[in-house]
Amino acid sequence: MHNLDNTKMQQKITIKGKAHYVGVNDRSKPLFEAMWPLPNGISYNSYLIDDDMVALVDTVDVCYFELFLQKIKNVIGDRPINYLIINHMEPDHSGSIRLIKEHYPDLIIVGNKLTFGMIEGFYGVTGEKYVIKDGDYLALGHHKLRFYLTPMVHWPETMMTYDETDGLLFSGDGFGAFGALDGGFIDSYMNVDKFWDDMVRYYSNIVGKYGSAVQKALQKLAGLKISAICSTHGPVWMEHVDKVIGIYDKLSRYDADEGVVIAYGSMYGNTEQMAETIASELSACGIRNIVIYNVSKTNSSYILSDIFKYKGLIIGSPTYSNQLFPEIESLLSKIDVRDMKGRYFSYFGSYAWAGAAVRKIAEFAGRSKFELIGDPVEMKLGMKDITYTECENLAKAMAERFKKDRVKGL
Ligand code: FEO
Repeated sequence: MHNLDNTKMQQKITIKGKAHYVGVNDRSKPLFEAMWPLPNGISYNSYLIDDDMVALVDTVDVCYFELFLQKIKNVIGDRPINYLIINHMEPDHSGSIRLIKEHYPDLIIVGNKLTFGMIEGFYGVTGEKYVIKDGDYLALGHHKLRFYLTPMVHWPETMMTYDETDGLLFSGDGFGAFGALDGGFIDSYMNVDKFWDDMVRYYSNIVGKYGSAVQKALQKLAGLKISAICSTHGPVWMEHVDKVIGIYDKLSRYDADEGVVIAYGSMYGNTEQMAETIASELSACGIRNIVIYNVSKTNSSYILSDIFKYKGLIIGSPTYSNQLFPEIESLLSKIDVRDMKGRYFSYFGSYAWAGAAVRKIAEFAGRSKFELIGDPVEMKLGMKDITYTECENLAKAMAERFKKDRVKGL
């Protein structure tokens, strides 16, 4: 538990009207969901509306409950919480539900029909509830809330809460980003540069499989006048609302920039030389955004992020025990899961006595929705003149594909 010295009251942090930020920062957890690195930490955002009726929107990771409770009491003192609105049940937000209910036993939990089974299943919490349907309404006084179901962004029960009075959108994980909040919590009061890459990485790692669900949610929200996006992770977006929506729209359409990610495995540097040769020729052909990743060194979190960012993808693998190199197999599985589309794809591989890697990547290519570019290159043992030529030809084909797009103005 992270405790707060309660001898000094903290400043209230107001968003707009009677809505306050009561979230916390986590700079200790190394891996989000036990998979995704957090070099810049992460925030678990919760919001408290101190109106005629008091509503808490989502909670925080239970490790931070003491600090969370102190922040709540700093806003409402001894007033009770009337409503606990649950936009999302993943435990980084729902983890404090049981303890909040213990402190405020009379509160009414607000969620949709899928929310309550999860609350009981995770936390054994029952009691008075308001089961909302899409478009239902809750008046707190000054703030008037409307609920929108946004299933599979990125769990089935996910929903968003929109404040019709002040245009605040409490969006759950939607529009979230990795990165703790270092001082300010509203975008206008901070340098937000560090969050843009962490937003793409967050989307690609956490939400990436659910592009069509995100598109449906964006369509549902399209008519709303949004003055602030209050997500469960990252800054409260006020100045950059349009940019943030634009990033989520582009990523969820699997749209991407010109550029190529080359991800390879290599035990002794031979397959790596194929990657270097391809990259060098891509550069000679005028491709400027080229990112090479050694999958044994870089966590797939970052590789996936760039695969969402760039349209070209080239995978290279040695043969290992008559299979793919294990780290490449793991990366391909993560790409598979995300149901990615709209990529230009090429591949290469190597073997010492019996080839399997190229055949295995071909199976991946066959089940993917990618456009296959050039001829795959397979190398036995080490680089030869023919290998250099084949790698250069593969790169030329990829560059030509991009040049066709340039002509079309894409
Ligand atoms: Fe931030 Fe899906 O939980």
